[in-house]
Amino acid sequence: MAQTEEKTKKQTDNRGLAGQVIGETSVCAVNQSQLMYRGYEIADLAEHATFEEVAHLLLIGHKPAPEELSSFKSELVSMRAIPDSVKDVIIQIANNSPQTHPMGVLRTAVSLLSHLCPVCEDNNADADLKKSMQLLAKIPTCIGVHQMALDGKTPVDPDPNLDHAANLLWCMSGEVPHESEAKVMDVSLVLYAEHDFNASTFTSRVIASTNSDLHSCVCGGIGALKGNLHGGANEAAMEMLQEIMTAVESGSTAEEFMQNAFETKKKLMGFGHRVYKNGDHRAGILRSWGLKYANEAHPEAIKWFDLGDEVQAIMLRDKNIHPNVDFPCGMTYFAMGIPVPQYTPIFVAARITGWCAHIMEQHQNNRIIRPLAHYAGEELRNWND
Ligand SMILES: CC(C)(COP(=O)(O)OP(=O)(O)OC[C@H]1O[C@@H](n2cnc3c(N)ncnc32)[C@H](O)[C@@H]1OP(=O)(O)O)[C@@H](O)C(=O)NCCC(=O)NCCS
Repeated sequence: MAQTEEKTKKQTDNRGLAGQVIGETSVCAVNQSQLMYRGYEIADLAEHATFEEVAHLLLIGHKPAPEELSSFKSELVSMRAIPDSVKDVIIQIANNSPQTHPMGVLRTAVSLLSHLCPVCEDNNADADLKKSMQLLAKIPTCIGVHQMALDGKTPVDPDPNLDHAANLLWCMSGEVPHESEAKVMDVSLVLYAEHDFNASTFTSRVIASTNSDLHSCVCGGIGALKGNLHGGANEAAMEMLQEIMTAVESGSTAEEFMQNAFETKKKLMGFGHRVYKNGDHRAGILRSWGLKYANEAHPEAIKWFDLGDEVQAIMLRDKNIHPNVDFPCGMTYFAMGIPVPQYTPIFVAARITGWCAHIMEQHQNNRIIRPLAHYAGEELRNWND
């Protein structure tokens, strides 16, 4: 085999670090048959744990006793407010640049918060935990201020009587959510909280490994999550379903849309996964919660689940590719009336826990992450030739 061909083959085999184990973690295990947060299986957590309990599990490292949970929750509530200067910038972006994607706004908000954080540059365990909790508490407030400003409303203060999920919905709309709505949001946050070395967590860990600060790691994580091959897929999946629905309502069919996508090698958003080749453990759980909610509260939204089922069946029949968690997430948040561009920021409101758990793990047992690249460029040559 010629030298260049061999080089290219080596690089192709390794593209996207597929199948490579590149480090160790005690936070989460992801494999074909299981997803576990610190030893607890995801279906168990979705059924029995609240998001705050999961946040405690991930950040502090164990399932909270009732009194631990109560003080953890009170501390989070006390941290929810954001400085006026940060609020003002978010409102200005909404007013002057309403087309800016909310993930960009959130990245800016986290960066601004870092300048006002007295322990920003301190990477010791206590400071990292404090910063993690501050961001966990403040992110729903930032998302809410932005959405309210986009809607031309005055942002509301976080409500100390509401849990994380319900408070997020309150901040985004100024309306106290119904219990069933808050529950579906809570379950979705549990499902989104953590997922080992996915692209955004890996990004955060790479930044942490240089001894950079937690806020910088989170800004990097937000940037990585924004893309539609990762967290941005929940928005992209819903936009794709809307496109298919428009086609169907104009006399075409989902089948026609799908066959056209296959022929043109267009990716179907919300399908496929790097690790789960036989299905994403989280997808079925969220679909049933979303459908239950639609049945009870918004029967007019059931058509999205029906269309989703049709698309899912065609994808399985023709490509043997399963939906991932972002597929039912799109329909579920749509049924709840959440604006599509806020789906990925909501993902951040959950994944902040996983990112921070990994950043702390990296800071506490660090070696800089610096892999090698296989060089596939020109052979050595002289500048004057
Ligand atoms: C998630 C994703 C990035 C994983 O990428 P990956 O691990 O490199 O993908 P795979 O190696 O499993 O792909 C195998 C084959 O299935 C195809 N495939 C995978 N996901 C697909 C999708 N959503 N739509 C159409 N085809 C898809 C690939 O194009 C590839 O085909 P090829 O062999 O003809 O090139 C990919 O499935 C994807 O882009 N999905 C859509 C975006 C999404 O939902 N992201 C959220 C992930 S939780």
